Amino acid sequence: MCGIVGYIGTQAASSILIEGLKTLEYRGYDSAGVATVSEGKLQRTRAKGKLVNLQTKLEGLEDPSRLGIGHTRWATHGKPEEHNAHPHTDTKERIAVVQNGIIENYRELRAELKDKGHHFRSDTDTEVIPHLIAEYLENPLDESILTTQSELLEAIRQAVNRLQGAFALAIISIDFPDELIVVRQQAPLAIGFGQGEFFCASDTPAIMPYTQAVLTLENGEIARLTPMGVEVYDFPGHRLKKKPQTLNWNPIMVEKQGFKHFMLKEIYEQPGVVRTCLETYLDTAWEPNSGHSPIRLALPDALLNDLQHIQILACGTSWHASLVGKYLLEQVAGIPTVVQYASEFRYAPAPLMPNTLTIGVTQSGETADTLAALDMEQTRRLASGKAQYAPRMLGITNRMDSSLARLIPHIVGTMAGIEIGVAATKTFVAQLMAFYFLALELAYRRQSISLERIGEIIDGLRQLPAQLELVLESQERYVEELSHDFADTKDFIFIGRGINYPIALEGALKLKEISYIHAEGYPAGEMKHGPIALLDEKVPVVAIATKGTVYEKVLSNAQEAKARDARLIGVVPMNDVEAEETFDALLPVPDVDELLSPILTVVPVQLLSYHIAARRGLDVDQPRNLAKSVTVE
Ligand code: AGP
Repeated sequence: MCGIVGYIGTQAASSILIEGLKTLEYRGYDSAGVATVSEGKLQRTRAKGKLVNLQTKLEGLEDPSRLGIGHTRWATHGKPEEHNAHPHTDTKERIAVVQNGIIENYRELRAELKDKGHHFRSDTDTEVIPHLIAEYLENPLDESILTTQSELLEAIRQAVNRLQGAFALAIISIDFPDELIVVRQQAPLAIGFGQGEFFCASDTPAIMPYTQAVLTLENGEIARLTPMGVEVYDFPGHRLKKKPQTLNWNPIMVEKQGFKHFMLKEIYEQPGVVRTCLETYLDTAWEPNSGHSPIRLALPDALLNDLQHIQILACGTSWHASLVGKYLLEQVAGIPTVVQYASEFRYAPAPLMPNTLTIGVTQSGETADTLAALDMEQTRRLASGKAQYAPRMLGITNRMDSSLARLIPHIVGTMAGIEIGVAATKTFVAQLMAFYFLALELAYRRQSISLERIGEIIDGLRQLPAQLELVLESQERYVEELSHDFADTKDFIFIGRGINYPIALEGALKLKEISYIHAEGYPAGEMKHGPIALLDEKVPVVAIATKGTVYEKVLSNAQEAKARDARLIGVVPMNDVEAEETFDALLPVPDVDELLSPILTVVPVQLLSYHIAARRGLDVDQPRNLAKSVTVE
């Protein structure tokens, strides 16, 4: 979390920094700040709250500087106040630093630097960095280094070798007006290559308007950007040979295109996302007698054959998608599967199981908990030295340029296009699609279901884009009207069973995230074991009840809630008389194969959360306390 940007070149830096920060605000919006260097002056402006407050402060300020850094903050250490906003400076205010990440050993460093006379002005972990750099500029370590030619770079190199934790940094100094130094250690950082100008940012949308030539730094790398070019070094100081890659993303993708919020736009993009996934991963001409797999994931046999067990590591919405994945991998491919919160797994991993596929699911590919858990798992399996425990690692992500894609050898891209709304929507649906393809590929290999059944599921998948369009067209206005009824509602319950239990969890998470209404998702059969005590006429219950193995059961569970005066909202099959008799409000979806239903049932709960939050006048795309990319533990 936190977004950092930097610029060195021929244009005025401050407007480029602000435009970049606008695209990174999804990473945090507790405060924002910029610092620029020109004519021997370090000009720093910071403001509490959203970027707009910083923009207001900058209005009318003349700043011709061609070198600068900027930051948008998600607070970790220190309250979201102006004195804690980045950039942070050293005692003499000659060095400015922006950071994304956490410096775990900041307490010791701060004490050491205070003893040496450094004066601290914030409560942050970040502030130790400019002081430490100043210290090494004045008193360089007696090391024989210099493969590097820059004093500033060398002082930064010495400083970062003292830092523990995960961090990405951008650093400037009055005394080095032609240098912008950037560092990456377990937090993302990309460098953009223009004509005589260079950019850096936590994420590529900040760079895309200027150049598509981008170099993503690896962990343990430092880069020196000057108007002449970019030099990359490792932390020990060796020069590395690196070349930029060309991005194929289009800036238009990060505009609202007439929608009131990115989240609504992204909900509406879901039919197109499913279409793209089908075009990419499905053999459209496949028939049961084709003699080959219908799925084109291009994954090696060594990864997928003879599996005994699958474990999936993820957080948040990706964890919910993984629960749907578990259902598919067990019921379609017949492989025992567990889903773990990455943050829990990391510190309490299960004993090693043989022939296990480990899948990391993360839309951003940057979630620190997920990356750390996967890294730990990969390392401990390698360390076991036994063939049956050898790591078989697969990543599912929406960002092929992410840290996940560099950590894990095999990746399935979810093809959803960039998602800006902090509440994940289209990337969730795209993750589900990835699990359908993986489960079908494994089912084909293991012959766990008949070819005819595979054909049926594929036919059903092909219908989904049009069915999603139907759900969106038929429900948008009604859900908006329905949302008026919940202006003062304080609690919601979502229930579902089987493959739709994760959709109940996801519905509750969406509502919590963007409307700040307390919401719980339960397996419908569990209600009677305790949570039913919460119900009365003030607590609406949303039941996901689609035709299939547990339909009647969920209807009975809904009736139990109704008997406690709860208002019942049903995500139910279209034109179903039983559902019409049971529920007070209906959010109908096409009556599809139960296995495919989550792709459709999630849409009404996304729309309901969106409209309740929008109706309450809340900041749907940037809900309080959250950030899109959670790069701290
Ligand atoms: C989703 O709406 C949330 N913002 C959040 O739970 C998210 O899914 C979680 O932080 C994991 O993110 P990732 O998929 O990028 O790893």
